[in-house]
Amino acid sequence: MSDNVIIFDTTLRDGEQSPGCSMTTPEKLKIAEALVELGVDVIEAGFPITSPGDFEAVRAVAQKFGDRAIICGLARCRRNDIERAAEALRGIAKPRIHVFLATSPIHREFKLKMAEREIVKATVEHVQLAKSFFDDIEFSPEDAARTELDFLCEVVEKAIEAGATTVNIPDTVGYATPMHYFRVISHLKQHVSNIHRAVISTHCHNDLGLAVANSLAAVEAGARQVECTINGLGERAGNAALEEIVMALKTRHDYYGVETRINTPKLCSTSRLVSGITGMLVQRNKAIVGQNAFAHEAGIHQDGILKERTTYEIMRPEDVGFIGVNLVLGKHSGRAAIRSRVIELGYQLDEAQIEHVYKDFIALADKKKNVYDADIVALIDNRINVSQERWKLIQFHIAAGTGTIPTATVELCDEATFQSSPDSSTTPTSTPVTYRDAAIGDGPVDAVCKAMERIIGVTAELKDYQVRAVSGGEDAQGEASVAILYEGRRYHGKAVSTDVIEASALAYLKALNKAVSDQPSEAATPGI
Ligand code: KIV
Ligand code: ZN
Repeated sequence: MSDNVIIFDTTLRDGEQSPGCSMTTPEKLKIAEALVELGVDVIEAGFPITSPGDFEAVRAVAQKFGDRAIICGLARCRRNDIERAAEALRGIAKPRIHVFLATSPIHREFKLKMAEREIVKATVEHVQLAKSFFDDIEFSPEDAARTELDFLCEVVEKAIEAGATTVNIPDTVGYATPMHYFRVISHLKQHVSNIHRAVISTHCHNDLGLAVANSLAAVEAGARQVECTINGLGERAGNAALEEIVMALKTRHDYYGVETRINTPKLCSTSRLVSGITGMLVQRNKAIVGQNAFAHEAGIHQDGILKERTTYEIMRPEDVGFIGVNLVLGKHSGRAAIRSRVIELGYQLDEAQIEHVYKDFIALADKKKNVYDADIVALIDNRINVSQERWKLIQFHIAAGTGTIPTATVELCDEATFQSSPDSSTTPTSTPVTYRDAAIGDGPVDAVCKAMERIIGVTAELKDYQVRAVSGGEDAQGEASVAILYEGRRYHGKAVSTDVIEASALAYLKALNKAVSDQPSEAATPGI
């Protein structure tokens, strides 16, 4: 038994199946890059048959990162699915096709209307078909945790015989409990004659809040691949959270005795990236990456920590790249100080990006007495995705208060429309066109959003809106996060400012920019 556990990340596939979490191809590429830097072994990049957008995303991730991680595409037991996955992965160094077919009695009877014999036959035929394209083939008996053990053993054995190199045992509906799942994996190890020829994998959903516990129980029973997602994204209650699995295996190495290749100081920045792109905020008390994960409130704990860190801390914050509220920089800090702090915080920015962050920092330091690490991180996150935004906020003005109809005047500039500058007599130049409009609303934020919509010429529905303080103190920056629905699709935006109305306006504008210009991949997932 190898003492290495393969980390299979499915943020881009199962994670994208979280309601409202569909991502564009550039966003998927950004996350894939972070996953490669994080050191994941396998990236499940998508389900290519689902839509042209999904196909393109898998292809783009495969082309860009196919020599740095195994890139996997999902396929049902259907010829078209497998051919499409093979096409998306063609030509890369490390392709994997992940073929699945449900095996549980409920799925056999109601969803597939297939008898046991037909399931076995389809499994063998389609694993063989996938094998004709690539060597590295994974097979999943969907809803394995609710499948009769004898039948599960038979299907798994036949899949391995047909060429599967990884057999994944999904708890598709989050039904398993740790001891139950341990027994399922142990049973397979004992009763599948060729099990030693394949890696056993876990894939646990979190409907009972047990996804991580079940995955760890499977590792204890001998599974050597764990399928998981950043921040536990995924269908319904999500999948097992990568950061929790990895840190449990690392922190309890004494117990599990296994290693992963994960570069753990990158966990928090990857979590923030995924949260920023998907709009799925991370709860404050979330293990490993939550804002409170390393906060000690009780005096008795603080006293213990000061005497000896390990009294109340089982992991070091720096081991997961956790950024506290350290007071770092002041108004007079120069570019070099910002550059080195950005690197220390785990970001790799080019000079142009550093310059933007520096300018944002100077503007912030003018408004805010104390600038914390968390502020710097928010400024950096704020800069992610800005380059392709068509509409930019130039200024806004609001009138609001008791007995007043909230009213906003907004000026936006359209980076896609240019006009000759009036002062271009000697050298002709052109500048983006600016537009102004005004609107009333239920409150100042609503009025600003409506005025921006009038200028852009769209009407979106606000589905989610949250504001939080980035750090402590009265002058803390506010981070606004919005989700809008436009033409049946959800778009997210996140922004920071010391003025929460400005943060809200910028976040809303980010979401509108995505809605009018981005082409998201379809989130529809047939057959799952
Ligand atoms: O949950 C599940 O069963 C899946 C399979 C496609 C592996 O996501
Ligand atoms: Zn799943």
